Amino acid sequence: MVNNAGIAGNEGPFHEISIEKWQRTQDINLTGTFLGMKHVIPNMLDNGGGSIVNIPSIAGLTGGSGASSYTASKGAVRLLTKATAIDYSKNNIRVNSVHPGYIETPMTSL
Ligand SMILES: NC(=O)c1ccc[n+]([C@@H]2O[C@H](COP(=O)([O-])OP(=O)(O)OC[C@H]3O[C@@H](n4cnc5c(N)ncnc54)[C@H](O)[C@@H]3O)[C@@H](O)[C@H]2O)c1
Repeated sequence: MVNNAGIAGNEGPFHEISIEKWQRTQDINLTGTFLGMKHVIPNMLDNGGGSIVNIPSIAGLTGGSGASSYTASKGAVRLLTKATAIDYSKNNIRVNSVHPGYIETPMTSL
């Protein structure tokens, strides 16, 4: 399973980010990944194993200007990946993350 869905966009100064913008970013980028894994893992347990790939970002490793909500959500996905990888390694379920650099896509043009 690949957890790919995400949103970004220029957020402006951190102290001007609305709670709605902050929450929407966490809901899609972080909670979306949580829900995807939560609902696929039971099937992988039944099948004797599986592989999950999450898509945080280089921003989740280094931070990024004008992207505090995005950076926080992606850093959290990175460590959520590590935590679940440890928990389910005994069940033959691999959980990994990839951290792309900047690429022009529909998401980055919003
Ligand atoms: N483009 C970059 O520079 C870059 C860098 C690092 C990481 N990423 C990550 O890669 C992933 C894919 O992004 P992309 O750049 O290919 O952009 P993209 O626009 O091609 O893909 C984003 C996808 O997420 C989906 N999506 C957004 N909100 C959703 C929701 N609420 N429910 C279901 N689907 C939803 C969109 O429909 C779209 O298909 C994202 O998680 C993004 O954060 C992108």
